[in-house]
Amino acid sequence: MQKAAVYGTGDASYQAAGGIEGLRGLVSDFYRLMDERPEAAQLRSLHGESLELASDKLACFLSGWLGGPSLFSEKYGAIAIPAFHAQWPINQQLAESWLDCMGRAIALQPYPADFADYLLTQLRVPAQRIVQASRNRHGTAGD
Ligand code: HEM
Repeated sequence: MQKAAVYGTGDASYQAAGGIEGLRGLVSDFYRLMDERPEAAQLRSLHGESLELASDKLACFLSGWLGGPSLFSEKYGAIAIPAFHAQWPINQQLAESWLDCMGRAIALQPYPADFADYLLTQLRVPAQRIVQASRNRHGTAGD
């Protein structure tokens, strides 16, 4: 069997990410990079001053999204990612900025190379849906 085909089956992705502790490490690096990198200033400015709650929420969301425990819905209730994000005008550039921080954070984790590639590729899917939903709500003026 192709190794890449295993991710996305059962909780294989969640395990490859190191479970909830691994995801907390990933999210912590992700928001730290967003906070520090001048290139991400516009993206950072959409967020609240503290990134603590956002960090917990993203780690919990990724847990369920990667086939692990549904921590987000247990703790915070249901969420539709594109509709939630449509409150902001998120264009392609902001989505790339988010993915850039995430790609750098992924590279800092002790993940197998094929999982690192897989994860970033998979994250492009909701990121694209967010851009589309935001465009539907706000129009294309920011593009
Ligand atoms: C496309 C680029 C994206 C942008 C610009 C963006 C931006 C944001 C912002 C501004 C917040 C609010 C943070 C705060 O309250 O301080 C947020 C929250 C969140 N984002 Fe994103 N995001 C993006 C992509 C994603 C993706 C791809 C996912 C999931 C895989 C995701 C999952 C979440 C979750 C779970 C929350 C917390 C929701 C809540 O407060 O209930 N985001 N995002």
